[in-house]
Amino acid sequence: MRLNKYIAQAGIASRRKADELTLQGRVKINGVVMKEPGYDVTEKDVVEVNGHTVKQDAKKVYIMLNKPKGYITSADDEKDRPTVMELVTDIEERLFTIGRLDYNTSGMLLMTNDGDLAYKLSHPKHHIYKTYRARISGQISGERLAKLRNGVDIGGFVTSKAIVNVVKQVERSAIVEIQIFEGRNRQVRKMFAAVGNKVMDLDRIAIGDLYLGHLKQGHYRKLTQKEIEYLKNC
Ligand code: URA
Repeated sequence: MRLNKYIAQAGIASRRKADELTLQGRVKINGVVMKEPGYDVTEKDVVEVNGHTVKQDAKKVYIMLNKPKGYITSADDEKDRPTVMELVTDIEERLFTIGRLDYNTSGMLLMTNDGDLAYKLSHPKHHIYKTYRARISGQISGERLAKLRNGVDIGGFVTSKAIVNVVKQVERSAIVEIQIFEGRNRQVRKMFAAVGNKVMDLDRIAIGDLYLGHLKQGHYRKLTQKEIEYLKNC
């Protein structure tokens, strides 16, 4: 099995991260540093990452977190801001996130030690749709809605078709639900900016068919077997 897959399957890191660790010289095979991410691991090989032997039977954990605003989607932050990892307190396994949410975005974040699933779902070819509820400033006209639905240029990238519905429009702000199929950096904020509206609050309420439901902000729960199967079949 390819080295990055072997490390990912053991729940140590995503495949991409495994490649980075390998290139940094932090991976050893049978006691010798291995810097070739394409190395084919055999049954007899002993693989070490950062001095720890990699075991293949790590229990797989899948959780859904309702991230509050003001948390960074990362294991550590150079500015010492709170991280989402600090919210997950009673899980022993080392988890990493499937995709990210901005510091100021709240809502659904999936976390797992299943490197293979994380890799698959983060890959651009996997068009799993994500649903956001945005509170935006100003009025949202029919013309702007049509632009958002058909695709807008967010700086060198034109978004694909999106599902966009106004939940509520009051005088100076609106609540809009938007479903997108890509996950570019700050995509929803940039899409609204492209049509002239500023996003004041952004909340991810669903990933594919998985909904936050009544999960409170700052809380998390394990995914059900059915939800895990759904993600694996996406
Ligand atoms: N789009 C954004 O602008 N921010 C997020 O966190 C997610 C999607």
